[in-house]
Amino acid sequence: MVAGLALLLAPPLSARADELGKNVFTQIAQPACAICHTLKAAGAAGTIGPSLDELKPDKARVMDAVKNGLGVMPPFAGKLTAQQMDAVADFVAKATAGQ
Ligand code: HEC
Repeated sequence: MVAGLALLLAPPLSARADELGKNVFTQIAQPACAICHTLKAAGAAGTIGPSLDELKPDKARVMDAVKNGLGVMPPFAGKLTAQQMDAVADFVAKATAGQ
């Protein structure tokens, strides 16, 4: 609990959102994005879906895929909160500079 509290209080807001986005990508989403996608910023090397480092999707494109799913990719609406989806979309877009 103490460590969790420190994490909440210490870093500035944007760093916290980035941290949440990364955690959604690697752990919170089930199945995790990292299982299927390559994304250097998250240390992910999945190959089932496209490499996000190469695709460089903008935030809206990530949001759309995460909410509704696409092909083999399952939809995450209802599994992730709006805040978690927003954080992961923002994290992917910024990490790949798709903005
Ligand atoms: C079970 C494997 C799997 C998981 C888990 C998964 N994806 Fe995907 N994802 C795919 C596949 C496969 C595609 C390509 C779908 C297609 O084009 O038919 C894709 C496509 C995408 C795209 C590109 C969308 C586009 O418009 O081309 C983005 C962005 C993306 N995924 C982000 C994520 C994020 C963020 C997560 C976690 C919340 C995630 N994916 C979880 C398999 C997965």
